[in-house]
Amino acid sequence: MNDSAPASLQNAVLIGFMGCGKSSVARRLAQLLNWPSLDLDAQIEDRINTSIKEFFATHGEVAFRQIESEELQKALSQHGVLATGGGVPTQSHNRELLQNAQKMGVSCVIYLRATPETLATRIRRQPDVRPLIDGNRVLDWSETVARVQFLLEQRAPFYESCADFIIDGDTLSAHQIAQIALAFVAPPKTCS
Ligand code: S3P
Repeated sequence: MNDSAPASLQNAVLIGFMGCGKSSVARRLAQLLNWPSLDLDAQIEDRINTSIKEFFATHGEVAFRQIESEELQKALSQHGVLATGGGVPTQSHNRELLQNAQKMGVSCVIYLRATPETLATRIRRQPDVRPLIDGNRVLDWSETVARVQFLLEQRAPFYESCADFIIDGDTLSAHQIAQIALAFVAPPKTCS
């Protein structure tokens, strides 16, 4: 039994597949809350001093996941709205970190869900940044959707197992998603 006093909410963590809008929603939600906006991929790139795509090509995914876990641990102790990389919940150690932070009342974890078609459209708008989807720019539209679908089927249970809340964002702007998330992170106070 954990009988220590509950900690106060320190961060909102956005999880979800590549292209679901985590970074733009994090910036908008941070503005609404007047909290700092944090971006795990950006923190990793600061540390590795190169792009994630380049790092995947030279060091591989396993080395990337190791650094990602270390940076996640650090980021969870910071105050702010944290946009994570889409692969964070695929690692059991990361899921434990997220779930423990939730249980302690430190983190509120929000899964931004979207369909493979929406995700593929957004991913194709930034063709050079997602090594796991089409690092070499050889896939056409339907192949991109199929690749997203394949990975999403594996990952959806991980996202769901970490989430306090799920927002379906296909038809919503980043601002609208941030407004919905705001109600989860800072619910309006009721008068008695
Ligand atoms: C990854 C998602 C990327 C980045 C890396 C791996 C993934 O972040 O961390 O390319 O495994 O889903 P975004 O979700 O911000 O694109």
